Amino acid sequence: MMSRSTPVLDPITLVAPQIDEEEVNAVAGVLRSGQLAQGPIVAEFEREFARAIGVEHAVAVNSGTAAIHCGLAAFGIGPGDEVLTTPFTFAATATPILMQRASVRFVDIDPQTFNVDVDAFANAATEKTRAVVGVDLFGLPFDRSGSSALERRGIRLFEDACQAVGASRDGVRAGAAFEAAAFSFYATKNILTGEGGMLTTNDVTIAERARRFRHHGQGERYEYIDLGYNYRLTDVLAAIGRVQLRRLPGFTRARRQNAARYDVLLRDVPGVRLPFVPDGVEHVYHQYSVIIDERQTANGADRDTVRARLSERGVASGIYYPKPLHLHPVFGGAHRAGEFPVAERVSAQILALPIHPALSERQLEHVAASLREAVGDAS
Ligand SMILES: Cc1ncc(COP(=O)(O)O)c(C=O)c1O
Repeated sequence: MMSRSTPVLDPITLVAPQIDEEEVNAVAGVLRSGQLAQGPIVAEFEREFARAIGVEHAVAVNSGTAAIHCGLAAFGIGPGDEVLTTPFTFAATATPILMQRASVRFVDIDPQTFNVDVDAFANAATEKTRAVVGVDLFGLPFDRSGSSALERRGIRLFEDACQAVGASRDGVRAGAAFEAAAFSFYATKNILTGEGGMLTTNDVTIAERARRFRHHGQGERYEYIDLGYNYRLTDVLAAIGRVQLRRLPGFTRARRQNAARYDVLLRDVPGVRLPFVPDGVEHVYHQYSVIIDERQTANGADRDTVRARLSERGVASGIYYPKPLHLHPVFGGAHRAGEFPVAERVSAQILALPIHPALSERQLEHVAASLREAVGDAS
């Protein structure tokens, strides 16, 4: 049993969707208009999103997965092509590669940032490599330096910025650094539409191809040029997205302030490693994920024990991701445990703490005190 030194508060959830009257009214307006499918509100959302990210084109779709799929299709990725990505991400970073009948090759992650940086991709690339999909994991944009080495070899660069809306690195926003990028507006994301996504690019050809791909491959009306899908977003959801986009700076500020509080409250706790933020990065903390190293905690507690103890204290936590992608059957089953040792070790030790914008100072203190207790830290 845990000691009762920390007061018990109402349960602290891991996510708390921020929906106000403004979103409710925006949806009601669309419903009353009778324009329920993709229409003028989607077009407005695209314009505003492109401006916010600082790109020429934004193409709204009905999920982040669809945005990645549109991007790879627009790159012309197909059978026989090899695409490099990280094994430590959500499955939908890599499944669109398989949807295009290309092959996935994983590259192990950096132990501090949990990302694969461009130079690591460049070192791993072969003559078969046609593209890389890098991920701004947890809201931290991966290191872009060295991308010209890939470009010189004709390797296309796609950014999975699904968790990183509003983030930047060296003054360049996530979603604006490469040829194309994807965002997700899933219900737990930093801005949400419930389900939804966006592809961003400065390349008009990529934008046109993506628009066609999301709409059955249609060119002129009822003329089908190439294979496409129904990946359209609805005006109902775009109306939520437009309001959320206006609220994004406030959400980001709150997430960053919460992270800064944890950085202080959890400083120097043995066995707890806090998120690393490289110079020049504006992290947006989609997750605030710590490493629990059972070899260093005062009481020998490991990640799963810590998680159970937090739960006893009314603190929800999450594991992103419990099993790296190379160990899932969908990626071919050709991989062995031990092949990507950093991703495997991090998967066993990572723990996401509540970081959403609605947390109070008292709740932040409760989470931190509960975590200190869980790892036997008396200070
Ligand atoms: C890193 C990453 N890639 C891709 C996706 C897929 O987005 P969606 O769930 O909107 O399809 C998500 C979110 O779920 C994600 O976090």
